[in-house]
Amino acid sequence: MLPTIKWEDDRVYIIDQRKLPEKKEWLICRTLQDVITAIRQMAIRGAPAIGVAAAMGLALSSRSIKTEKYGTFRRRFLEMARQMELARPTAANLRWAVEEMVKVVERMHGCGVEEIKEAIRKESQTILERDIEINTKIGRNGLALIPEGATILTHCNAGALATGGYGTALGVIRAAHEAGKNIHVMVDETRPLLQGLRLTAFELMEENIPFAVIVDSAAGYLMRKKTIDLVITGADRIASNGDTANKIGTYQVAVIAKENKIPFYVAAPLSTFDLDLKNGDLIPIEEREPAEVVSFAGHQLGPEGAVAFNPAFDVTPARYISAIITEKGVLRSPYRRSIRNLFRTQR
Ligand code: MRU
Repeated sequence: MLPTIKWEDDRVYIIDQRKLPEKKEWLICRTLQDVITAIRQMAIRGAPAIGVAAAMGLALSSRSIKTEKYGTFRRRFLEMARQMELARPTAANLRWAVEEMVKVVERMHGCGVEEIKEAIRKESQTILERDIEINTKIGRNGLALIPEGATILTHCNAGALATGGYGTALGVIRAAHEAGKNIHVMVDETRPLLQGLRLTAFELMEENIPFAVIVDSAAGYLMRKKTIDLVITGADRIASNGDTANKIGTYQVAVIAKENKIPFYVAAPLSTFDLDLKNGDLIPIEEREPAEVVSFAGHQLGPEGAVAFNPAFDVTPARYISAIITEKGVLRSPYRRSIRNLFRTQR
């Protein structure tokens, strides 16, 4: 399994996902701005992976704060945290990870600055390692939902590359394969940046999991033909009523799945939930450069000057979601209640 991100020699190393699968290249980040740019330009992407990058980016940038005074350090660190939070707007995990790092600084009120810097670095490593454990649990929890011999449709990349490792939606698929369930995966190519074709196909191939890539618009046809037994995707943010933001195109897949009585599952860690939001209409949706739609890898596809619109995510209302698979168990509708109960037992 290709690692997504690592800390080495006081640098953050990120596998540059823009270049995959053609090239496996480490992008070396030395500053806060390097990591923010890597997130914004999607050298690293996927909600949990962005969270890990944010944590490591803050650990890195805290080292540039030259003071011995706790108050000055805290003020400068909070400024950096606020900048990091703005790197991308939709994934809840980014803000979650930033808040975890801020908590370390608050908890160590009055400690020596060097000691705090080391604690921050350790915490970022813990966030990475814990994410892999969480995904393994999600995989295990989702196993019972995957019938023997199932054909599974997935959208975008919710694999090892989108997380600290193992993956969420792809974690469940990986676990089913490891359990010998003889599954087959249909991979939406996922326009405009082709995370399905470039990244999910790459991961499935590495694991020898049988798959076929389809164009996004073929998913409805296959569902109507009963070729698909279930759909499983990741999530970028889940509101307190279960409405779920994920890669653009997820909503239409969920609606067609329901129309064809095919279960639609979401796999996500607790850090993806945003209990402050009453429903999915309040989730901020990132709009990216129109150029991503009309060109690819620097090559112009449409006519020069073609107007394009590029929302990067959409929201699937909870009524289309058959279950949400988390590291703490599988949630069912009514989600407002099941989510509230889950988080209540966590406190
Ligand atoms: O724009 P991206 O590639 O960051 O979008 C990623 C997704 O939508 C994933 O499905 C989601 O983050 C879940 S990743 C485990």
